[in-house]
Amino acid sequence: MNRIVYLNGAWLPENEAKVSIFDRGYVFGDAIYEVTAVVGGKLVDYAGHTARLHRSIGEVGIVCPLSPDELLAVHREIVTRNNLDEGLIYLQISRGAADRDFHFPKNPVPTLSMFTQAKKVLENPLYDTGISIITVPDIRWGRRDIKTVQLLAPSMAKMEAEKQGADDAWLYEDGFITEATSSSAHIINAQGHLITRQLSTRILHGITRLSILDIARHAGITVEERPFTVEEAKAAKEAFVTSATQFAIPVVRIDGQPVGDGKPGPVAKKLHQLYLEHHINNAI
Ligand code: PDD
Repeated sequence: MNRIVYLNGAWLPENEAKVSIFDRGYVFGDAIYEVTAVVGGKLVDYAGHTARLHRSIGEVGIVCPLSPDELLAVHREIVTRNNLDEGLIYLQISRGAADRDFHFPKNPVPTLSMFTQAKKVLENPLYDTGISIITVPDIRWGRRDIKTVQLLAPSMAKMEAEKQGADDAWLYEDGFITEATSSSAHIINAQGHLITRQLSTRILHGITRLSILDIARHAGITVEERPFTVEEAKAAKEAFVTSATQFAIPVVRIDGQPVGDGKPGPVAKKLHQLYLEHHINNAI
């Protein structure tokens, strides 16, 4: 790979970008990240992702070193410098380097890095096949609404899914699904209602989720934002996940049991299509 990455104001070949071993992102997981999709060289739902970035850093008291205009300019420049037509932009912002101490440093200098991943996001075969998931306990911390880089728990859940021959995992707590390892979880029940967990500190406030719910309501689908059980998910007509990296993907098996007829459902497909129509047209 020969990407150009962004690090604290500099544009560097990826193997020349270095961060201190004292960086609090590395030592304490004291960092926030954000992911934005790029289609046709344009940013998809950028406003939503930057709004959540600012909310996340605000919750932990990290100050963004760039103004909103500068941040947008850097997103655009990383696309141009990498000739990125389709893929993803990952942004990490940590509290910066300081001698090891649980207390936050008095005058932190944040570390801001960005890199791209070229990837076909529009032509993902999973849109047609769907994915299989297992359910595992949600062992993450209590502020899942903050998009921190503390991603070991979801990584472990994904490894467990792989071990069991599944594509991904949904997480549950007290019998209720919270979300997927790296996406929001939704089901369609027998009445055709879209059921998804309500926003709280228990889940990440998915930007794609927000938009899909809006699109669903406009399409006349009743949306119920409430917790749903693992059993309810298994008895659902359809299930699907949403995220910036894969938009809406049908879930066709849960813990080895087929969801509905075991094929991608029409509602998930329709929402995916409507999401693309809206967001590709409005990409900036
Ligand atoms: N993950 N829930 C979790 C735990 C997530 O990590 C993500 C996104 C989502 C969906 O959020 P959004 O629609 O804003 O992408 C929900 C990103 C894609 C990742 O970690 O790569």
